[in-house]
Amino acid sequence: MLIDSYERTVDYLRVSVTERCNFRCQYCMPEKPFSWVPKENLLSFEELFEFMKVAIDEGITKIRITGGEPLLREDLDKFIKMIYDYKPSIDLAMTSNAFLLKGAAQKLKDAGLKRINVSIDSLKPEVAKQVAQKDVLSNVLAGVNEALVVGLKVKVNMVPMKGINDNEILDLLEYCKERDMTIRFIEYMENVHAAVDIKGMKSKELLSLIGEKYTITDEGFDSHSPSHYYRLDNGYRFGIIEPYEDDFCKTCNRIRLTAEGQLIPCLYFDEAMSIKDSIKKGDIKGAAAVLKEVVRTKPEKNRWGGDDAESSSRAFYETGG
Ligand code: 5AD
Ligand code: SF4
Repeated sequence: MLIDSYERTVDYLRVSVTERCNFRCQYCMPEKPFSWVPKENLLSFEELFEFMKVAIDEGITKIRITGGEPLLREDLDKFIKMIYDYKPSIDLAMTSNAFLLKGAAQKLKDAGLKRINVSIDSLKPEVAKQVAQKDVLSNVLAGVNEALVVGLKVKVNMVPMKGINDNEILDLLEYCKERDMTIRFIEYMENVHAAVDIKGMKSKELLSLIGEKYTITDEGFDSHSPSHYYRLDNGYRFGIIEPYEDDFCKTCNRIRLTAEGQLIPCLYFDEAMSIKDSIKKGDIKGAAAVLKEVVRTKPEKNRWGGDDAESSSRAFYETGG
């Protein structure tokens, strides 16, 4: 078991397989053109898998494939199958923008993927285009439908932004309710890579807006989910991810691996350790030692919203958020 210095069990590994993305979401990587890390700096799937076996043997039970956009990396289904075959009981999930999901969903499911989280920030083509800086909506919705048809469990992420999609909160709730998908609203996390003029919405504002139409019951946190759950009087359950709240980090169970082999204990801070050298040398003990050190040094909490807060300069597209 991996246990950090605050007695939190770390059993969840997020693996970013590429920082590249076919979207340019305003809250993530608004600039274009963009210069990427050269492909030769990335770990191969075989190398990533070598580390994941170590992590699984040490106590990781849940793995999420993220990016950038993971579906941009060729043969992703084969990578998923490697992990699944090593330990079929692993809770194996992916986060994707869903643009390339239609045509890929069945293969992913057959490879062993269980769940997928997709971003839908708007149901209006023009607004979705404004957010992602590309005409994405029809592909995204087709991808989501296909994922549901092949039997993947789908959760939807929306980042509510004032003056952009704040008038679609209820529409997205209804859209997800009708399809039996959970929606999680994510409070916009300030970061140096985002467009400068974005104004996110805080949990309180979202609840008061949704509360105008529904009675809301607070259901608290599921164990080890970063999402605070609420239930509407019609029975539908949704989440809000509230990284600015004081108790957000209390149940954190995760670490992150980038495509270049950086192992990161906390999204907010710059600290990271590389597993690249150990893995390239086949030094499994060395990789396990790095893993344990990263878990040991996991900070108690982030500082979003702190007085002198300055989050890591590392972009969310390197770590998959
Ligand atoms: N603030 C909040 N959420 C973000 N995401 C990406 N960048 C940010 C940010 N700055 C979310 C996306 C995606 C998930 C991987 O992370 O909505 O669904
Ligand atoms: Fe790409 Fe996701 Fe970032 Fe949007 S939020 S640009 S889809 S990595």
